[in-house]
Amino acid sequence: MTLPNRSSRLSGFHHQSPPDRLAAVAAFAGLDAATVGHLADFGNLDPHLADRLIENVIGTMNVPVGIATNLKVDGRDVLVPMATEESSVVAAVCNAARQCYDAGGIVTSMSGPLMIAQVQLVQVRDPHSARVKILEKREEVKAACDACDPVLVSLGFRDLEVRVLDTLGGSMVITHLIVDTRDAMGANAVNSMAERLAPHFEAWTGGKVYLRILSNLADRRVARARAVWPVEAIGGQEVRDGMISAYQFAEADPYRAATHNKGIMNGVSAVVLATGNDTRAVEAGAHAYAARGGRYTSLSRWEVTADGDLAGVLELPMAVGLIGGATKLHPTARACLAILGVGTAEELARVTAAVGLAQNFSALKALATTGIQKGHMALHAQNIALMAGAVGEEVDAVARALVARGEVRVDIAAEELGRLRGRRGE
Ligand code: MEV
Repeated sequence: MTLPNRSSRLSGFHHQSPPDRLAAVAAFAGLDAATVGHLADFGNLDPHLADRLIENVIGTMNVPVGIATNLKVDGRDVLVPMATEESSVVAAVCNAARQCYDAGGIVTSMSGPLMIAQVQLVQVRDPHSARVKILEKREEVKAACDACDPVLVSLGFRDLEVRVLDTLGGSMVITHLIVDTRDAMGANAVNSMAERLAPHFEAWTGGKVYLRILSNLADRRVARARAVWPVEAIGGQEVRDGMISAYQFAEADPYRAATHNKGIMNGVSAVVLATGNDTRAVEAGAHAYAARGGRYTSLSRWEVTADGDLAGVLELPMAVGLIGGATKLHPTARACLAILGVGTAEELARVTAAVGLAQNFSALKALATTGIQKGHMALHAQNIALMAGAVGEEVDAVARALVARGEVRVDIAAEELGRLRGRRGE
């Protein structure tokens, strides 16, 4: 294929309207009319709002929202919206929740709503003295932080930590501002505080400040979930022991732990996305937390209770909010929060951790028994049927044929589709 002479230097692109930008992109990429028409449909997100949320907007990317049923969290029945493109993720949570519902569901708690902002001070001649000088200024630091965001004042600044860090560039003095951001995720609030404090730190220590930014390792905002699955509800001792062994594998091996934790984040990120929160912040925090002991390991723990049942526990940082950013602006996020019925960021964090634990349960159970592919196969087969061009009732018919043949491939789907249409005389 010969491509037209193209330049990515689209002057004034940023100032154009979404349709004009789309036209420019279509010309650049040689998009056909059907593709342009598809991108021009913003679905249920107002193009003006989309254009305010991010830059250079040309369209939207719709992801399905499914509802996790059967969840009882802290004694309350909840329906949890999950936004994900991955099949089986929502079904897995429903199944796990059903199997512990009668035993009381999932119990959650939270360490607190504290975020950390970091200020990096370099070129300090006497870093240990500088550290203590900053600690001496606690009341001034608190006043400056609380002046940044009057709404937060009664909650605001909570604590000050200062470390001398040995780095490739010599000693650095790293200050942590620890702030109660309550129902906000808090990035804006703590970043403003760090920026405001920076000149003071320079004046007090004679050093130079470079970075002033939150830490996504939100280890003072840890959500916890625990549940017990009765051994008879999960299919007996052998299933239980296989699941424990799967956990022990993840605990010992970072290669397995990465996949184990990815499964947990399938659930967590889907709730975080559905509620308009920052999936990358929560992902970064989770994986850093999983390595906090110096070795990357499982975020969850699984053990046998005195009664022989299966107990699971999950702990991970959960920096999510109900105010600010897309959470308040995106109509789908607002609708998802209404379905969830949570009144505080803490409640949202706790339900999200519960979903992560349920997700992990189902993955371990599938892996320790039939394997993951069997459950995936039916939905995957439907996707393959769609890819082969099946429409309407053809999708199920082709998918069934693929599963029956045990070969879920696009070429086989095309063959089955041809046969089906042939039988119908098309
Ligand atoms: C797939 O998205 C997630 C799993 O790989 C998780 C796991 O292996 O524990 C099934």
